[in-house]
Amino acid sequence: MLKRTINCGEVSESDTGKSVVVNGWVQRKRNLGGLIFIDLRDSSGIVQIVFDPVKFSQEDFKTVQSLKSESVIGVRGTVQKRVSENPDLKTGKVEISAEQFEVFSVAEDLPFNPFSNQEVDETVRLRYRYLDLRKPEVRRVFEMRAKITDSVRRFLISKGFIEVETPYLTKSTPEGARDFLVPSRLNKGKFYALPQSPQLFKQILMVGGFERYFQITRCFRDEDLRQDRQPEFTQIDMELSFVDQEDIINIVEEMYKTLFKEVMNTDIAVPFKRMEYEEAMRRFGSDKPDLRFGMEIKDLTEAFKHSASKLIHDNLEKGNKVLALFLPDGADLSRKQVDELKEKAKEIGFQGFIDLKLKNGEVKGSFAKFLSEDEAHALLVNGEDNSLAMLFLVPEKMREAVGRMRVYLGRAFRLINENEWNFLWIVDFPFFSYNEEEKRYEAEHHPFTMPNADELNMLETDKEHLHAYAYDLVLNGNELGGGSIRIHNPELQKRVFKAIGLSDEEAEQKFGFLIRALKLGAPPHGGIAFGLDRLVWLLTKTKSLRDVIAFPKTTSGISPLTDAPSEVSKRQLEELGIEVKKDK
Ligand code: AMO
Repeated sequence: MLKRTINCGEVSESDTGKSVVVNGWVQRKRNLGGLIFIDLRDSSGIVQIVFDPVKFSQEDFKTVQSLKSESVIGVRGTVQKRVSENPDLKTGKVEISAEQFEVFSVAEDLPFNPFSNQEVDETVRLRYRYLDLRKPEVRRVFEMRAKITDSVRRFLISKGFIEVETPYLTKSTPEGARDFLVPSRLNKGKFYALPQSPQLFKQILMVGGFERYFQITRCFRDEDLRQDRQPEFTQIDMELSFVDQEDIINIVEEMYKTLFKEVMNTDIAVPFKRMEYEEAMRRFGSDKPDLRFGMEIKDLTEAFKHSASKLIHDNLEKGNKVLALFLPDGADLSRKQVDELKEKAKEIGFQGFIDLKLKNGEVKGSFAKFLSEDEAHALLVNGEDNSLAMLFLVPEKMREAVGRMRVYLGRAFRLINENEWNFLWIVDFPFFSYNEEEKRYEAEHHPFTMPNADELNMLETDKEHLHAYAYDLVLNGNELGGGSIRIHNPELQKRVFKAIGLSDEEAEQKFGFLIRALKLGAPPHGGIAFGLDRLVWLLTKTKSLRDVIAFPKTTSGISPLTDAPSEVSKRQLEELGIEVKKDK
């Protein structure tokens, strides 16, 4: 094998006159004046090779002539100055005059050229993922990902954390999604569940006296996929003993400060801002508000309680609210643009909104005739001049939808400074959330979370208002991670299981092993986990989570590269004692 002596991207003027060997992919080939020019690429960059027919047999020269793009070759030659320099290329002042070559692999016609700007269906791209991975900008994402895990790992180890692996073949842990099940051949009729997170194992490591644990690990959740979700994803997971919420917040802030310095060469300010869950929901309609722009939700229900408009009056009678958004400079929008916003509002789930324009201290628009002086005043003090007021007449539970409209407007009207890193802790989460479908309360974070000590008596009697020692970290309007202080008292843990509707038997069957551990000496402990994919996605500003995962799945949970999931042989099924019901 013609083994390389130098990387393509590192050939420079100082090598002029030297004999070198380069290995790489044929990115581009041109015939010019009887010569063949090849741009040869390896992971370090590109260098130009020139093949002169006088230096090769006719047959060899033909081989070079017929080389298709993305074939892999080795070339020995002499570095010389280029006649016409290419300022766009790091090696643009030199080229290699070829004397000998070896074809390592001939590429067939490509399904698409990864280096052209042609539009290619994402499934096709993922089927041939390795072609895209050859692009430097794609590889850079993975270099960044590796730098991030390296920084996190070094930081946590320096703080006395031990990296421990926990099982993938395990029992269900409730993080709110469906489990992926793995049938057991040795125990027919029984199933492992792939972990939705290492939650229970990390708690048991605390009972095991490890005090500081971390793991950068895969988690599996069978849930409906969205832009920011994959069925398998990676968490930076940690747990600490003898700590309170403040200790965890501090160490996480230091970790991100170090990470941003090391990876992005950026100084981020700590401590991060904090907001109570209730305030975030009220002001922004979200538990992960994007604070890179304002446009808070204003509640004008009180101001409109005597409205002359039948529409508003009837809505208030029903118990609906008047929630308003004021789009800065929106008073300049055309009728058509406002109608388009109403279409968007319908997509989000509204029937529409009342639109009014605040112009030079006056309220304008077809609805203005219904406004009393006080109502107009309320609009003018809540919204900036020259803004578009959007009034949503909706029940309180639609506040989150108003929050989604806010985010849509922030993006669509470029109200967001894309260069900002806006970290925010959301604290004081409610302990329970109500599952409308199943008509029952469930743990908002997970049932191992410690309820607020001053409100313990509300566990059974006032589920609506009980808080948890739980916290989320939000970056630029995305939930980066979440965690909590855990229950370390087995009696309290049983009480919580009961409060979420688990019978003693169910609790024992599902989590008996945890209760047993808590009964044999459990330290107070707490922790947090971050979505690594989301972090890399935000830091690299790529389009989707799929861009930061080497071999991602599509939104229908399929891997176009391997065609997984796929059918299995009858014999495999028989060994497992499983029969597949075909959909009729
Ligand atoms: P949680 O369920 O909030 O907490 O998960 C932590 C973080 O993991 C990321 N994440 C995902 N990323 C990509 N695809 C998904 N399907 C997906 N689901 C979650 C998010 C999220 O914030 N055991 C607890 C943590 C703890 O209490 O310590 C847990 O798993 O960024």
